[in-house]
Amino acid sequence: MDVFRIQGGIPLRGEVAAGGSKNAALPIMAASILAGAPVWLSGVPKVVDVDTLSLVLGHLGVEVKPQLDGRTKLETVDPRPTRADDELVRRMRASFCVLGPLLARRGRAVVALPGGCNIGDRPVDLHLKGLEALGAKIRVEHGYVVAEARRLVGAHVHLSGPRGPTVTGTANVLSAAVLARGRTTITGAASEPEVVDLGRFLIALGAKIAGLGTQTLVIDGCGELGGASYRIIPDRIETATLLLAAAITGGEATIAGANPRHLAQVFVHLRRAGAELAISGDRISLACRNRPKPTRLTALPYPGIPTDLQPQWMAWMTLASGSTMLRDCVFSDRFSHVAELERLGARIERAGETAIVSGVERLRGACVTASDLRAGAGLLLAGLAAEGQTVVRRVDHVDRGYERLEQKLRALGARIERLAEPEFPPSLPHLPSPSGAVRIA
Ligand code: EPZ
Repeated sequence: MDVFRIQGGIPLRGEVAAGGSKNAALPIMAASILAGAPVWLSGVPKVVDVDTLSLVLGHLGVEVKPQLDGRTKLETVDPRPTRADDELVRRMRASFCVLGPLLARRGRAVVALPGGCNIGDRPVDLHLKGLEALGAKIRVEHGYVVAEARRLVGAHVHLSGPRGPTVTGTANVLSAAVLARGRTTITGAASEPEVVDLGRFLIALGAKIAGLGTQTLVIDGCGELGGASYRIIPDRIETATLLLAAAITGGEATIAGANPRHLAQVFVHLRRAGAELAISGDRISLACRNRPKPTRLTALPYPGIPTDLQPQWMAWMTLASGSTMLRDCVFSDRFSHVAELERLGARIERAGETAIVSGVERLRGACVTASDLRAGAGLLLAGLAAEGQTVVRRVDHVDRGYERLEQKLRALGARIERLAEPEFPPSLPHLPSPSGAVRIA
């Protein structure tokens, strides 16, 4: 398990490029099961979750081959397998996105129920309800979903649950509906840019879909789909994470190759907190030389502020010139980063889905542990701002969704290095140095 060792307090400066969206690439790769000819994807990020899904697809007879020109070729070489590898699905819940495409294209799918994770309960009832509405026979036995359908039939499906729409649930039902007989109307669909990107990819394969970007999708099923070349959208969460890295260190940065249209609400909040933003085409520049103003955030489904940015926003607000409230309406328990931020000197009170953050003058370096992808990103940002040295452990969580994050931060002037855990024996005493910053012996 690697760690990041960070020397904090350095204002970031410079320009880096956004990578392709992990959360668009995963459902699009899964949907390649539907293609009747090879698929060529550009902009697939080199992150661990993509590697895991590539293995899942390999077990399902879909060859995933990165090309020398940077594209990724996906081609079905064996259409018979219908059972996804259990251990891999448990390792990465987004593998559950193969359910809809497998069922629609091969008439049967056996996929392990995805494991839980550290951000609260994550049922899949809406996924199953949606596929049953299309005529699938579904049973759950011994921890697996077994879904069968000779031919799916278009229907009206309502996909929103108590916490709003489901992103990958919409992906599963949308991907299945494109090969169903007749018309499917999905109401309460997720309208995230990643779902729109999946829809546009399916249209490139020959599907007929209307309403992308709204909560009502209308799909006219067709008999078969072809292949396509397709470019994945930029990763809006990575883009916003890098902008917040500049903000929290009191620096300035430009992110190139981004899509500002996907970040409208984020820009509103950044400006409200005192950041200066300049947007020109696909380049977003941010400067922030002062402590942030306390700015409340309520994580909501798109177009609201994304829950995947809540930990990073909290890290910034720990240094605000006052108290503010953060609420996550999407996941019931996405606050595992609170205790770790407190180890850096943050003052946070947790109450159910809400956290009250009281800004402090400074954070001080410490050894902290990431428990999920975005919590890790939040701790990394806090370490960039903290005085002295911070070590972030379990960066394998960060590697699941960020491509070469430490290299991009170094390109912006951060002093961050990746160490293998054994090189950094955590048992060493953390002796507070005279300045109060933690000195790691
Ligand atoms: C996707 O997860 C993203 N992952 C998550 O990003 C993101 O946080 C989430 O959407 C919300 O935007 C991928 O796209 C791979 P949901 P997903 O189904 O689809 C409830 C990251 O860090 N729900 O939209 O699994 C659920 O419990 C990851 O990149 C049901 O009740 O999330 C949650 O409260 C983390 N029943 C809410 O809906 C269901 O059948 C939203 O979940 C499905 C979901």
